Amino acid sequence: MAYREKRYEENAIDESLAPLIKMPLPGPKARALVELDGRYMSPSYTRVYPLVAKRGRGAVIEDVDGNLFMDFNAGIACCSTGHCHPRVVEAICKQASTLIHYAGTDFYYEPQAHLAKKLSEIAPGEELMKVFFGNTGTEAIEGSLKLARYHTGRKKFIAFHRAFHGRTMGSLALTCSKTTQRKHFFPMMPGVIHVPYGYCYRCAYKLTYPECNLYCVSYIEEIIFQGITDPEEVAAIVIEPIQGEGGYVVPPDDYHRALKSMAEKYGILFIADEVQSGMGRTGKMFAMEHYGVVADIITLAKGIGSGMVIGPILARESIMTWKPGSHGNTFGGNPVACMAVLETIALLEEGLIEQAAVEGAYFLSQLKRLQERHELIGEVRGKGLMIGIELVRDRETREMAKKEANEVVQICFEKGLLTLPCGPNVIRFSPPLVISRKQIDRGLAILDEALAQVEGKRGK
Ligand SMILES: Cc1ncc(COP(=O)(O)O)c(C=O)c1O
Repeated sequence: MAYREKRYEENAIDESLAPLIKMPLPGPKARALVELDGRYMSPSYTRVYPLVAKRGRGAVIEDVDGNLFMDFNAGIACCSTGHCHPRVVEAICKQASTLIHYAGTDFYYEPQAHLAKKLSEIAPGEELMKVFFGNTGTEAIEGSLKLARYHTGRKKFIAFHRAFHGRTMGSLALTCSKTTQRKHFFPMMPGVIHVPYGYCYRCAYKLTYPECNLYCVSYIEEIIFQGITDPEEVAAIVIEPIQGEGGYVVPPDDYHRALKSMAEKYGILFIADEVQSGMGRTGKMFAMEHYGVVADIITLAKGIGSGMVIGPILARESIMTWKPGSHGNTFGGNPVACMAVLETIALLEEGLIEQAAVEGAYFLSQLKRLQERHELIGEVRGKGLMIGIELVRDRETREMAKKEANEVVQICFEKGLLTLPCGPNVIRFSPPLVISRKQIDRGLAILDEALAQVEGKRGK
């Protein structure tokens, strides 16, 4: 048997056994690794619990001590086709034994151009989309900001409260989901104006949808464009179709359309940051399709490569007109990553987008049933398999249950379910799109127990 196939078989996991926790966590090997990591790794990382992942298959992760976890994280919405999907592994191995790197900025090779063609074909809209390849979400955002300035000749950007677009100086200027991400780094890129997002559960203006007539959109025209900046100075609106790190916030159905038509009125570009919401996760290839909006520029990363490193920018042909040398990099469009993306897209088109829509609807409905029994759950929201529950101490006042959200996440981990918080008091679920109904049920049973445990402690 070929070495590659042998390694693949040796690392197989029996998914049907998960979750399976054999010892109090972290186990001995995990504890040793956490200590080693603490000694040599930057303290800026934000580990929520001591998971030391060893291998993964489908929707299951095995840690270094042999414990099996149901994975509702997918490595933060990245491993969309499941851990080590055999076809993605095959595509990676094949390309890795052919050509690993050749600097796509300066030279040509097949995987890069073929992937650009495929991305252009699947992108919404009439006009041809051109592609630039970065390596990460933040790099895609940086490139999109440069492109918007280059094309419009304007300097400023509008971004949103609780947004997350990355941590380099341009994207960080847009990011405002946590002050720890920004503290000590001033000044970032100048010219960013932040406005409230369409977050109806916590409307910044204390209004109610739909009677509000989307005041959060008209506020930009009435206040920002009247008193803070002339719209002619604004290059682009940068927005997540569904906010990710900020709390899995789903805006109302007509929100993005209203923003887009306002942007068009003033010649402002509309940049959809689909880094977390894109590539099938929400039950459509791009989350903006739920809103019937065609963005001028789309940024991608995370789930597009099933865990391989890539961060493309897609832009209308009439916008991506920058001259040779105006933007580039060394590793963007790496051939191995490109082949992983092409295989990922094939799998999405062959059924995983549909599966995300169907299983996501089931997941959401089961969470709504849990909400009936658990006072802590203030709101259940999401599309496809991008789902969040917002925890509150009191459903009337909506006081944020921050501590409780973290406790639930910890207990889930101890019982073999991997979840992550986002925003101050939200627990997010972004499992691999291959997750089965049985696996969803197993995970939700653990979540149910964890919520009961935390509520029991509070005397509810
Ligand atoms: C919507 C969005 N944009 C950009 C980023 C930044 O991506 P990266 O961490 O790959 O730089 C993230 C990361 O979470 C994200 O969720």
